[in-house]
Amino acid sequence: MRKLWIAGNWKMNMGGREGIELLKEMRNSLSGSKVDVGIAPPFTLIPHASEILADSGILLGAQNMFYEEKGAFTGEISPSFLLDFGVNFVIIGHSERRKIFGEDEELIKKKVKKALDVGLLCILCVGETLEERERGETKEVVKRQVLSALEGLPSLKGLTIAYEPVWAIGTGKVATPEQACEVHAFIRELIKEDIRILYGGSVKPENARGLLEKEEIDGALVGGASLKVSSFSEIVRIAEEVW
Ligand code: 13P
Repeated sequence: MRKLWIAGNWKMNMGGREGIELLKEMRNSLSGSKVDVGIAPPFTLIPHASEILADSGILLGAQNMFYEEKGAFTGEISPSFLLDFGVNFVIIGHSERRKIFGEDEELIKKKVKKALDVGLLCILCVGETLEERERGETKEVVKRQVLSALEGLPSLKGLTIAYEPVWAIGTGKVATPEQACEVHAFIRELIKEDIRILYGGSVKPENARGLLEKEEIDGALVGGASLKVSSFSEIVRIAEEVW
């Protein structure tokens, strides 16, 4: 079994002083976990997080980055800025970035390549909308997203994929373990590599066990429930039990 990874995506929450307190609480509660644990706070917290999480074993993540090193790219964040603060992983291609910020497959491909080139772990997010699922297009969409993002990569070392059905994100409607497993197995078949495939979309302490017990599911990318120490550490505890 691949080592489980529970990663928290704080999205655009807790990016100010309250986030510093939350990071300290997370550190106290989650240091030395048996499974991999990661937190991706907003960019404004990364310098603080790099100090607060140092030597805790908790991986520090960014929610996005650009694929160039430096220059006239107003508002963007370079991978080398992230590396400077000891960031370990970056989330690329989240459905919110695809939908709200118009990130297309070409851009996502460049970002994935850059992240892996500079030695960041990369969580590539893929997943279908409700309409696509209802039209029976789930596998087609996921296949296109995965293959286009990985096209031309010499190696998948450092890559993790997160299957995040868009209809399950922030809606409270979690995919059943069977629905998730079907897509995870499909992705595994597609890439034929031993990388981790996480599930994301309304993961909570109440549904985490059913998902994490499945052989095909190597961890979770957690949004809302990663904003409270109690719920996030409960999910981590469940992962430790299951692993
Ligand atoms: P929720 O857990 O809030 O549904 O968010 C999932 C997600 O988008 C993680 O990246």
